[in-house]
Amino acid sequence: MLNNMFLPSLLLLVPTVLSAPFDIWHGHQGDGTAKAAYFLDNNPSGSAIICLRIGFDGIVNDPVRTSTGGYGAIGMNLTGFPNAVDPLISQGSVTVNGNLLLTVNAGSNTVALLHIDEQDPCQLTLVGPPADTLGEFPISVTYSEQLKTACVLNGGTKAGVSCFNVDPDHGLRTAGPLRSLGSAIDETTPPTGPPGSSSEILFNPTSSAVIVSIKGSGPPGYIVAFPVEHNQVSTAGVFNQVSDIKLDFAAIFINRTSLFLVDPSFGASTLEINSDYTVTEKVHTVISNQSAVCWANYDVATNTAYAIDAGQPVVYTLDASTGVLMGNFTADGTIGGLFDSAIGGRYMYSLALVNGVVVFDIREKKQIQFLNLTGFGERQGYTGMALWP
Ligand SMILES: *[C@@H]1O[C@H](CO)[C@@H](O)[C@H](O)[C@H]1NC(C)=O
Ligand SMILES: *[C@@H]1O[C@H](CO)[C@@H](O)[C@H](O)[C@H]1NC(C)=O
Ligand SMILES: *[C@@H]1O[C@H](CO)[C@@H](O)[C@H](O)[C@H]1NC(C)=O
Ligand SMILES: *[C@@H]1O[C@H](CO)[C@@H](O)[C@H](O)[C@H]1NC(C)=O
Ligand SMILES: *[C@@H]1O[C@H](CO)[C@@H](O)[C@H](O)[C@H]1NC(C)=O
Repeated sequence: MLNNMFLPSLLLLVPTVLSAPFDIWHGHQGDGTAKAAYFLDNNPSGSAIICLRIGFDGIVNDPVRTSTGGYGAIGMNLTGFPNAVDPLISQGSVTVNGNLLLTVNAGSNTVALLHIDEQDPCQLTLVGPPADTLGEFPISVTYSEQLKTACVLNGGTKAGVSCFNVDPDHGLRTAGPLRSLGSAIDETTPPTGPPGSSSEILFNPTSSAVIVSIKGSGPPGYIVAFPVEHNQVSTAGVFNQVSDIKLDFAAIFINRTSLFLVDPSFGASTLEINSDYTVTEKVHTVISNQSAVCWANYDVATNTAYAIDAGQPVVYTLDASTGVLMGNFTADGTIGGLFDSAIGGRYMYSLALVNGVVVFDIREKKQIQFLNLTGFGERQGYTGMALWP
């Protein structure tokens, strides 16, 4: 959560962004250094959250595993093999809000709620049993603090959105049916991708809608919005296709209505989510030397959007207001590429193509650490990245 101590300095830096009250939806971003980082080992023989402790200097260490109470499953690549990395072909498989952590068990078709111990944030405890996601192959989860509601995107044969009332003491209770994605997705379990696979689910900053991104397979992909009416996520989606966005991959809100989306077929887009939940592309930014920008992030303190490249160890920086490509920074060549990422204060934590986690100082635009996890476990299941507090 945004630490009030930091509000005055943020106000000086970004008066326009902070005219939105409190910006609670940015969570830790633009805040002080986080104390723990979490990612999912989405493992078919039993999934676990891996927690890394973060030092005052941003450096990560001491991985700790906690079971998610379910099994993982691995998405397929275009030549019919299980993906060696990016097993869910998604962003947002781990979500942290306050002392709650939510994640998906793609092989069990469940969503798990875990409690984070404030004294020791790597001590996680399952809250109630994981809940049935009503569909198959859940890949991404989002939480609205305002609505005390979590929603999950299922990306398999039985695709769709399910939502849950979140009780921090007793766990998850199903809220409504599986919401259909219609013909926007036609997948198998496990899904094959990236083309045609679902990508991410996220509440918008005012919790007035849940937004889903789905990659196209030839024709453009989809941005689907499920409006929230009377505190309930509606069952009818508003389906949008933007003609020059083919592989709608990860997205992040840069303000209440503006969504920064990456697409490895060209670069990044800034989309306006209109009040009727139609979508207008405001800026189309071709990133000419990108290889596969699949993950997105945003730093409110500098109003910078990040497009993160899985095909090479490069992070592109864009001015979030104009969408203009400002430059890039890189990790060591040996890292291969960069995947799910999270920003806490001046640091960004990224899963690497190789087995480990890269830490960047995003103000200095340089790598400060590679934590090699080769001795700790297999790379294949690793997905998601979230920080506490
Ligand atoms: C799919 O995975 C297999 C095994 O890792 C690999 O040999 C192949 O090149 C991959 N295909 C694509 C299209 O990435
Ligand atoms: C793309 O890469 C080429 C060759 O390395 C380089 O000359 C060019 O400046 C790069 N373009 C951008 C926009 O960075
Ligand atoms: C990163 O930026 C530098 C300097 O502008 C440019 O030369 C280089 O081509 C860029 N790299 C990529 C991969 O776009
Ligand atoms: C959100 O950001 C976009 C892009 O900078 C801008 O055009 C729009 O006016 C902003 N909207 C709000 C509500 O701040
Ligand atoms: C990580 O450690 C393993 C085992 O020591 C080594 O083979 C590998 O090259 C290291 N990876 C990187 C990127 O340094």
